[in-house]
Amino acid sequence: MRKRYFSLAVAGVLAFLSAGCINRQLANDMPQPPSIDGYQLADAGLGGQLYDDWPRVVHTRLSEQNPLYPRRGEFHVTNTYRCKSCHGWDFSGNQWSAGDGGEAHRVRGRSQVRELPPGQLYQTIARGPAGHAFGDYLTRQEVWALVRFIREELIDPSKVIAADGRVAGDAAKGRALYEQRCADCHGSDGRGIDLRRKDGVQGVGWRVAGNPVVALHRVRWGRSSKMHYTGRMRGGKPSGRADLQLSDQQILDILAYCSELPKR
Ligand code: HEC
Ligand code: HEC
Repeated sequence: MRKRYFSLAVAGVLAFLSAGCINRQLANDMPQPPSIDGYQLADAGLGGQLYDDWPRVVHTRLSEQNPLYPRRGEFHVTNTYRCKSCHGWDFSGNQWSAGDGGEAHRVRGRSQVRELPPGQLYQTIARGPAGHAFGDYLTRQEVWALVRFIREELIDPSKVIAADGRVAGDAAKGRALYEQRCADCHGSDGRGIDLRRKDGVQGVGWRVAGNPVVALHRVRWGRSSKMHYTGRMRGGKPSGRADLQLSDQQILDILAYCSELPKR
């Protein structure tokens, strides 16, 4: 008897969860043109997280390589759908690679993208060709969040990160901020959270020195944590902008300090 109630409860929970998924109103389910109000209400911070890794943010699994991705087998399937995999972290595409740890970005740079009208960006993202119709997976709100992020929040990293990976910030100011806002989780020496778990501890110093562009993006916008999924830590990485209320310049100061922390 007990067992039966238990399986009914499980079935109920599953039905509830799948109803939640079905209720996501995807952008391409709605044929009418997008209304520009969506742009004014959009959350650019959500856009930053989606730009990094939208399949992870909206819990989508993809089974085949993106047909638009130019090389087979270079990335795990899901990664061929992430905006950054093709466009780079700032739409410089294949044209600028200093400071991104040698990641491959395979499409032409598009640095003028910030100036495109919101409606046009919306269409390109939601209703592009095969492999670029992200409205099949994202809601209107999410597509607008990407549009707003692209128009208002992209940072041109060539202005803030030197060719040798040095971050343009004041490390002395950064140190004080790091101690207040970051050290609780990452430790004073940056090694409190092991970001790679291979060959010793690789903490914030390792990450910022090796790939400052990714670090800048993820400290600005946060990230749903891998460690969260494996049960090692609750919650995700906080957003420097929204959760910790830091300005971009303060974040750059902090990163300048982080690059002086131990690499291992
Ligand atoms: C598989 C590779 C790939 C992925 C992943 C990808 N794109 Fe694209 N995207 C392209 C290509 C190719 C073009 C056309 C570029 C050209 O014309 O040179 C393009 C064009 C664009 C444009 C128009 C640029 C312009 O100047 O007109 C925008 C905006 C854009 N993509 C946004 C995104 C966003 C946002 C994501 C993530 C949700 C994304 N893309 C993911 C390959 C990709
Ligand atoms: C509440 C705890 C917490 C605080 C506070 C915090 N972080 Fe993190 N941070 C995390 C977690 C958890 C991760 C790992 C995310 C993952 O699983 O990829 C992380 C990852 C990172 C990464 C690596 C990102 C990547 O994946 O490449 C950097 C860099 C970083 N944090 C810097 C900072 C800085 C700088 C601050 C202060 C402004 C800060 N963090 C504040 C929890 C925190």
